[in-house]
Amino acid sequence: MDHAGTTAQALRHFHRLDDLNDRQIEDVLDLASRLKRGVSRPDLAGQTVGLLFFRPSLRTRTSLEVAMHQLGGHTVNLNAASDFWELEARDNRLMDGVVPEHIKDAAAALSCYVGSIAIRPALLGKSWAVDRKDEQICSWMQHSRVPVINMESALWHPLQALADLLTLRESLGELKGKKLTIAWTQSPTPSSPAVVHSILMAALRSGMDVDIAHPMGYELDGDVMAQAETMAEKNNSTLESGLGLEEAASGSHVIYARSWWGLENYGQPSLSAHQNSRAGNWCVDDRIMDAGEDTRLMHSMPIRRNLEVTDRVLDGPRSLIINQAANRLHTQKSLLSLLLRQ
Ligand code: CP
Repeated sequence: MDHAGTTAQALRHFHRLDDLNDRQIEDVLDLASRLKRGVSRPDLAGQTVGLLFFRPSLRTRTSLEVAMHQLGGHTVNLNAASDFWELEARDNRLMDGVVPEHIKDAAAALSCYVGSIAIRPALLGKSWAVDRKDEQICSWMQHSRVPVINMESALWHPLQALADLLTLRESLGELKGKKLTIAWTQSPTPSSPAVVHSILMAALRSGMDVDIAHPMGYELDGDVMAQAETMAEKNNSTLESGLGLEEAASGSHVIYARSWWGLENYGQPSLSAHQNSRAGNWCVDDRIMDAGEDTRLMHSMPIRRNLEVTDRVLDGPRSLIINQAANRLHTQKSLLSLLLRQ
């Protein structure tokens, strides 16, 4: 993808960070910083964004609602569990089952009412080969007549990546040559690797070196890793995966902790639980933090205290997790402003 474009190039959909060229990322982050300092106040009066949640959310929903409110617009929230029905994503189906409506028709209808549709799609959770296709959100992007924003699919969480980029820049200044460690952490409720894929690509694109620490069986998506290797080569960055936690933390400026499913056992809860229980102690504590260079701690939340990261680290001065959460508001205000006024 060509990243040398300009802001004049309209953004059709925001599925992953790579849907923004370099100039657009700079513009989003610059405006987010100005909004945060209160020196810019874009007006989205009369604009509406539809928020469709097929999975729960605390930060994404609240920050997007508040973002639109502060910009003078508003949101319509639809929760798949209570407000509407299952939607068919596949084309050319005989719809004689329980699913009463196709995304094609729902997307066309909603496009008449709102300026953008933001979606946190469902994960079927049976096969990574299926979920990694992001079929549901791709179907919305195909059929919507207004921009679609990904609020975390199986593969990507681009809104989190924007907030994380702003947080990294605020904390480290120039990112080129700095080292990010992505640390798998233990949890009985792991997530999809969407957040990790997104910060991996964002960091490499910014010229950071990246080490990924994880037990065997927790390799990230093969296609995303191939993209990451290409990005690392292009930016003269280093990328290593499959390291131990202490080894990966050595010399690191930032540790990004996150628990994700083992993709080999994806959709097999008992095998996954067994694999997880054998993984040992993968918790970020003071000893791991001290292996780095004045290391900061990042995590997109929700976080399991003292299982993923200790209280001492989370409540200490090196934790950036609340900065990340706060920056969701500023970067989303900026993105919405640029997207809805284009
Ligand atoms: N980080 C994040 O997306 O949080 P929620 O799942 O609470 O929205």
